[in-house]
Amino acid sequence: MSPLIPPSDFRQLCGRFATGVAVVTTRLADGSPIGMTANSFTSVSLEPPIVSICVDVASALHDTLTRAERFAINILARGQEEVSRAFASGNDRQFHAHQWGQRPSSLPALQGAVAHIECRHHTAVRAGDHSIILGLVTGGVIGDGPPLLFYQGRYHGLGSA
Ligand SMILES: Cc1cc2nc3c(=O)[nH]c(=O)nc-3n(C[C@H](O)[C@H](O)[C@H](O)COP(=O)(O)O)c2cc1C
Repeated sequence: MSPLIPPSDFRQLCGRFATGVAVVTTRLADGSPIGMTANSFTSVSLEPPIVSICVDVASALHDTLTRAERFAINILARGQEEVSRAFASGNDRQFHAHQWGQRPSSLPALQGAVAHIECRHHTAVRAGDHSIILGLVTGGVIGDGPPLLFYQGRYHGLGSA
């Protein structure tokens, strides 16, 4: 069997894949909104419409997100680096410091996002130290402006990399 590459090499390799930046949001049982920055978002299936995100099993929000009946993917716009940083920090995810609204679905929607994609839990599959969470897409809103990009560990805008 071929040996596996070290984590640092793996990071370097995968860092060559430019992504957008999303904040996955849902509500806790008491109704409070929570969110986590994730760039592992992918569209998986057209019919039915399915998307996925991967969540670190060590993340404080792992169990919440893998069990959430509904969640939303907020695709960040250029200029929302601060939002990305805030929702990647381990405390209260700073919902109070950022403008957000409530959709008819009651899912928290971050203001200024270029898209808000609403999902119903489909499956969660453990893969190594992450879980792949699959969601059926039940709705969404398209916003304005260019997206925030993430490449080689840094934020970029279209054309800036
Ligand atoms: C640009 C960016 C992308 C990220 N993408 C993911 C991701 O796809 N999956 C994930 O589990 N964590 C991702 N993280 C890290 C989480 O946002 C978060 O910091 C981590 O889960 C630690 O959370 P904790 O302090 O609650 O444990 C990303 C962070 C940044 C800044």
